Amino acid sequence: MNDNAQPNLLREVDNYIESLFSTNDEALDAALRSSEENGLPPINVSANEGRLLHMIAKLSGAKKILEIGTLGGYSTIWLARALPEGGTLLSLEYSSKHAEVARANIERAGLSDRVEVRVGSGLDLLPQITSRGEGPFDLFFIDADKENYPGYLDWAIKLSRPGSVILSDNLIRNGAVMSPSSNDTAASVIAKYNRTLATNPRIESIILPIIRENTDGLGISIVT
Ligand code: SAH
Ligand code: DHB
Ligand code: MG
Repeated sequence: MNDNAQPNLLREVDNYIESLFSTNDEALDAALRSSEENGLPPINVSANEGRLLHMIAKLSGAKKILEIGTLGGYSTIWLARALPEGGTLLSLEYSSKHAEVARANIERAGLSDRVEVRVGSGLDLLPQITSRGEGPFDLFFIDADKENYPGYLDWAIKLSRPGSVILSDNLIRNGAVMSPSSNDTAASVIAKYNRTLATNPRIESIILPIIRENTDGLGISIVT
């Protein structure tokens, strides 16, 4: 078997699964279209990963969700749709432009009554959220700047209760985390982050490989 056979098969399998479960979903399609039209980078989760986030949120019964890194609100819509009656989602976004695009997409999806997009840097907003007593949250989705993932994890644990779920995107980086080169800061930080997920006694974790154009990974942690 040549080196490429397996990755190509995995991408085909990912496409197969996506088409198997795809539905005409106007709000999600419109969110991606408007993100592109407004010049946002195409770094949203894939449809399959979005569906996975949605299912994990539902399986865990999450009623209060905290997302770090909104972009155009694509993952936000997948997660917010999993909320039960009365549930809420707070999403933190550094870029006011991204937040504005996301709010319009969330409004179009009919989710504005349960979703708040808050503008600021995660590490400024998380202490405020804590001191204002806005926690605990049942589920976290960490998907912003990779260098600050360790800080985000610490705040997520502070804002959690036993049983809370912490999801962390982009933990494999096409394999770069396995032997990070010294000039790839994000890969080095995430390699260390992955060891923290494996060893921190406050959480129990696994990393699920996520196939797309590249191979990436989703961290799934439960607070003990
Ligand atoms: N969760 C989104 C993708 C998020 S991309 C989805 O899957 O649809 C990462 C986002 O994090 C970008 O919008 C970026 O502006 C934002 N970001 C970068 N640094 C940040 C910070 N320090 N605090 C909060 N958000 C940040
Ligand atoms: C990229 C992908 C992401 O999911 C993300 O959160 C940040 C960057 C990327 O492909 O560059
Ligand atoms: Mg991501």
